[in-house]
Amino acid sequence: MRVECANCQKVYDIPDERLPAGKKIKFPCPACKSVIKVDMRSHQADTDAVPSSASGAHADKKSGEGEALKEKIFKSVSELPPMPQVVHKARKVLADPNSSFKDLAIIFVTDQAIAARVLKLANSAYYGLSQQVSSIQQASVILGHKTLAELVTMSATSSLLGKDIKGYGLEAGELWKHSLAVAFGSRLIAKKKNPAFSDDAFAAGLIHDSGKLVLDKYVLERKGKFEEFMADGQGSFLAAEKEILGFDHAEIASEVCKKWNVPENVATAIRYHHYPSEAQENELANILHVADGIAMLSGLGTGEDALSYEMEESAVKSLGFKDEDISKLMDQVVASVQNTMQEFQ
Ligand SMILES: [Fe+2]
Ligand SMILES: [Fe+2]
Repeated sequence: MRVECANCQKVYDIPDERLPAGKKIKFPCPACKSVIKVDMRSHQADTDAVPSSASGAHADKKSGEGEALKEKIFKSVSELPPMPQVVHKARKVLADPNSSFKDLAIIFVTDQAIAARVLKLANSAYYGLSQQVSSIQQASVILGHKTLAELVTMSATSSLLGKDIKGYGLEAGELWKHSLAVAFGSRLIAKKKNPAFSDDAFAAGLIHDSGKLVLDKYVLERKGKFEEFMADGQGSFLAAEKEILGFDHAEIASEVCKKWNVPENVATAIRYHHYPSEAQENELANILHVADGIAMLSGLGTGEDALSYEMEESAVKSLGFKDEDISKLMDQVVASVQNTMQEFQ
């Protein structure tokens, strides 16, 4: 039987007589030492049919049921609400160096709820304004239209990401809090390493885990399977998503990005935010990955899957960070999140 390691993709030909029919087995990959899991239960009847699977994922995917589930999940991306129009407009304003505060102020005409929230944020202690801001135009003049555009994005995504995500064990607001942490962290890192990426890094951070919104109900329906997969402490939650659902949340997020018209570089970084070494030197993917890790280390993680987060050493190295840089970033991220959350309570 052909067995492929899900981690290093090495393929092994194992004599059928060494594989116990009707059982689940696992063994360390001789090449990379990660655990290879093979589920022989679904192959009892056709051992000649080269069922081959490293993690059991292929087995599930190849079965009709696995394919049907993948299809269903894929389709449910379209059930997500669209990204509010104001975010697209705010992005355009950010991208155009000649844009003025008037360009940005116009978008609030259509979205008063966001306007009110933005004003509340602008008046928060975080921005340290000496005078009370009462209009969007005034906020734009004092804060700068870039900061204002950022406030628009934050306000708009808070309602999308603010719900409880039961499958992942997240209370209402927790995914948004984590997303904010990754957005602030990504922007701080980008400012140090490649300031041209700052705005993209912030936006990528805010929506990097949006795939969880799609997968949540499917995870919840299969809670028992996830617990079983995680029980031996060997597998990550990410690997469980892939094995049980056929997609991990980063893969399905790239579909969400298409729906939301997210620019390609941001979508690619999101697609590879858990394994940036596969993104072919996408610097934004490295930034997002390290910011995600910093959020986890700061206690601003995402419930169920935070404990099994693995930071790729190559990403940390590529950014040239030392331990003290990481702890400084952690402090800054925690402070930024606390300040912002206070205004959203
Ligand atoms: Fe993630
Ligand atoms: Fe994350």
